[in-house]
Amino acid sequence: MTISKTLSTAAKLRGEITVPGDKSLSHRALMFNSLAKGTAHIKGLLDSDDTNSTIDCLQKFGVDIQRDSDGSILIFGKGMRALTEPIDILDCGNSGTTMRLLSGICAGVSGISILTGDDSLRSRPMDRIVKPLTLMGAQISARNNDSLPPVMIRGGKVIGGQRITPSAASAQVKSAILLAGLYADGETTVVESKGTRDHTEKLLEAMGAQFSIEGNEITLIPPQNDLFAVDVTVPGDISTAAVWIVVASIHPDAELVLRNVGINETRSGLIDILRSMGGDIKLDNKRYIGGEPVADLTVCSASLNGVQVNGELIPRAIDELPLIALAGAVANGETVIQDAKELRVKESDRIKTTFEALSAFGVNIKELDDGLHVQGGGSINGAIMNSSGDHRLAMLGAAAGLIASGETTVEDAGSVTVSYPTFWEDLEGICQS
Ligand code: S3P
Repeated sequence: MTISKTLSTAAKLRGEITVPGDKSLSHRALMFNSLAKGTAHIKGLLDSDDTNSTIDCLQKFGVDIQRDSDGSILIFGKGMRALTEPIDILDCGNSGTTMRLLSGICAGVSGISILTGDDSLRSRPMDRIVKPLTLMGAQISARNNDSLPPVMIRGGKVIGGQRITPSAASAQVKSAILLAGLYADGETTVVESKGTRDHTEKLLEAMGAQFSIEGNEITLIPPQNDLFAVDVTVPGDISTAAVWIVVASIHPDAELVLRNVGINETRSGLIDILRSMGGDIKLDNKRYIGGEPVADLTVCSASLNGVQVNGELIPRAIDELPLIALAGAVANGETVIQDAKELRVKESDRIKTTFEALSAFGVNIKELDDGLHVQGGGSINGAIMNSSGDHRLAMLGAAAGLIASGETTVEDAGSVTVSYPTFWEDLEGICQS
């Protein structure tokens, strides 16, 4: 059953939020420690539908994963060659990261793995991993001419010496190739057209893998021995914090403190973009957690100007682009997002769903083939919008609702459980009259 949430304009936004653990890092901490030898404690792991899908799948490879009494997760890794053919179909739910990264692992594991997911995931392109993993020696078949899930992989023999340019600038694809590369009989090189998030390289390196990285060219030297388990404390997710960063920037009376937010350079495009629009974002208490840079953010209301977002900035803010369109709607002048065709193959077609959602609020917005054109400065009117089952769209609708005149209803509001199960409670906590 889907739920709806109705909200009205917030007079003031005040408070502190510690956002949940980073989704990308949570998946990686779980998967990579499942490949490693030894016991790892993971603290701050995101507890959400997506990460639970990953845990569920890893258990099917025979990995022992348990919840400790303090809420942390324990992974008892037996080494990457001790993973066994999964005992059942791997249901990745809504999670593209689970399906694509696990596919890389499946290429290295002897036997057959079958990966599937929900309606949204079964409509997302998998040829982007099928092609490189096939080149690396895996036998793969997938629905719709090897392009859509379910995906069936017969793995066990990975050929090294490959130099692969992925068809899209995608950290998921890069990671799938590198994970298969761990099992290869020689080096594997990924050449990216644009740099993407580097959590995979960083965490695998901390576990003993060796890389040589030159610009956007990443070479993995396969390990002679097993990777070793590492304890990880997962920082807060900047893609989750993004909703509060944007809403505080566009609301006329806001000051929000966001604790413990990961600010990895490959993920922090939103901060750069909002600052270039005139945003008031302070970063305090910078430190490292789990090998990743982290800060506490204070975000206050600001008068924003429109911005052009394209090129190398796109992968650095890929999941935040719908929220940038909302910021553009409030800003003076026009905001143009381009080179972002990848948005069309996310949990929903986010060019279309963002266009539809913001149009419902009365925003002057146009769909471009590879992005969005937003004419700022108009009024935002309360609306009924549907998340299309996409967690980021539900949060976009809520953010718009907090500044809109009149009432807003977000239909299919439960989709937030994919990345931020406590979203609606946190929202209530910062609204003041
Ligand atoms: C992710 C990478 C991005 C992002 C997704 C998570 C990851 O996807 O949109 O939410 O954890 O590697 P792409 O790599 O396909 O752009």
